[in-house]
Amino acid sequence: MSYDLVIKNGTLATPEATLKANVGVKGGQIAAIAAGPLDGEKVIDAQGLYVLPGLIDGHVHFRDPGLTYKEDFATGSQAAAAGGICTIIDMPNTKPPLSTVEAFREKVSIGESKSCVDFGVVAVVVQDNVDRIPELASTGILGYKIFMGETVGAIPAPDDGAMLEAFGLIAKTGLRVGFHAENNQIMQHLIKRFKAQGRTDALAHLESRPEISEADAIQKVILFAQSTGAKVHIYHMSSRKGMELVATGKGAGVDVTAETGPHYLLLDGPSDMPRLKAMLKMNPPVRGKEHGAALFKGLLDGSVDMIATDHSPHTLEEKLKENIWEAIPGFCGVETSVPLMLTQVNAGRLTLNQYVQVASENPARVWGMYPKKGRLAVGSDADFTLVDMKQEGVIRSERLHSRSQVSPFDGYKVKGLPVYTIVRGNVVMQHGEVNPAPIGKLVTPQAR
Ligand code: DOR
Ligand code: ZN
Repeated sequence: MSYDLVIKNGTLATPEATLKANVGVKGGQIAAIAAGPLDGEKVIDAQGLYVLPGLIDGHVHFRDPGLTYKEDFATGSQAAAAGGICTIIDMPNTKPPLSTVEAFREKVSIGESKSCVDFGVVAVVVQDNVDRIPELASTGILGYKIFMGETVGAIPAPDDGAMLEAFGLIAKTGLRVGFHAENNQIMQHLIKRFKAQGRTDALAHLESRPEISEADAIQKVILFAQSTGAKVHIYHMSSRKGMELVATGKGAGVDVTAETGPHYLLLDGPSDMPRLKAMLKMNPPVRGKEHGAALFKGLLDGSVDMIATDHSPHTLEEKLKENIWEAIPGFCGVETSVPLMLTQVNAGRLTLNQYVQVASENPARVWGMYPKKGRLAVGSDADFTLVDMKQEGVIRSERLHSRSQVSPFDGYKVKGLPVYTIVRGNVVMQHGEVNPAPIGKLVTPQAR
C-alpha cells in the first residue's frame, strides 16, 4: 500500500515514549506507524528530527472579524504555522464578540476561508446571553469563555447571579468554560488610587493587578464549579496562589484545568517591566520570578495542565505609550512559544515527553478534541510538529508573521526550533517557509 505522505527516519516523541519509527498518512489521518519502511507518494526525511503530535495553542486572539488591522485569521494562522502550531483556539473578544449563533457561523466562514491551521472556537458568556448557552452548545463550539476582569474589548463580566446560572446551564452541555480570572473591583480600586497619585510608570500596572485579585476570582470559579458540576478552565494563570487553589480544587474532585504561558514562566515582571515597559503590559501581568518558578513546577506535577500563549496582537502605536494606563495590554505569542519551550527542554527543565503532554495531549483533552487531535496514533489526524532540537536562533520581532510584530522576547536566544508544521497531512510550514493556502478546518468536540 502506498501512503499519501510518509515521514521516515524520525524519532517520535509522545507523553509516554520516545522511539524511532516511520509514519504513514492516508486521507489526512495517521494510517501506519512502523519500524520498517513505508511507501509514500511524498516522503519527508526526518533524520535527526523529533516528530511530535501536532502542537496546540489553546488561547489566541486572531481579531477577526472587526479588529483585523491588528491581525486576521490569515496572518494569525501563518504565525501559528511558522511557530510549529497545528491547531489554535480563537478567543471571542472580537467585533462583534462571538456571543450568538450568527457570530459563530461568521467566524467559521472566516476561519475556513483564511486559516492555514485547524481552529476551534469558544463563545463568550455575558449578562444578556445566558439564555443562549444551550443553543450555542449545538453549533460546534469547543466551550465558553467568561471575562471576570475587564480587559481588551471591555466585555463586562456577568453579575454573580447570572454567572451562577450560566455555570448550571453549561454543566448540562458537557462543555468546558474558561475564565479570565481577575477580580475587577480590586483592580479598578487600585487603578483609581494610582492614577490619583499621579503614577504612570509601568510597574503601577503590575501593582494594580495583585496576586489576590487573580486568586479571589479563581476561588470563586472553583466554588461555583463545585456546586454546579460545571467543567472549568483558568486562562493565562499567572500566580502561585492561583495555582495552589487550582491544585486544591483538583484534589477535591472539581474538574478544573489551567494554563499558563511562556511569558509567565520565563520573564520576571518587577525586573523586566521597567526595561520593557508597555511592551510587557499584559492582563494578568507578568509577576515576580517566584511565581514563574512555582508555575513551572506546577506544569511538571500536573497542577498546570497546559501551555497556551494568549497571543494578543496590537499595533506598535497602541502599545508603546509612555503613560502605562494608555498602553494596550497584550503581545504576540503564538509564533515564539514552541522555540521558547524547546529551549527549556534543552536546558533540562522538562523532558520533550513532558512538553508534548502540556502542549498537545492535554490541550486536546481539556477542550474535547482528543483523540482526533493531541495523539500520535493510527486513526488520529495527521498533525505533526517536526522539531530540530539542535538548531539555534534569535527571536526577532520584525520577522514575526503576525500583522502586529510585538514581542517582549525580541532578541531572545533559543535552541530547538520547529522545522515542519503538518496539518492533516498538509505541509503548512517547512524550514520557516509558510504555505498560506487556507486548508484550516473547524475542530468540533469529539466527546463531552
Ligand atoms: O493582555 C491581554 N490582552 N489580556 C487579555 O485577557 C486580552 C488580551 C487582548 O485581547 O488583547
Ligand atoms: Zn486572552
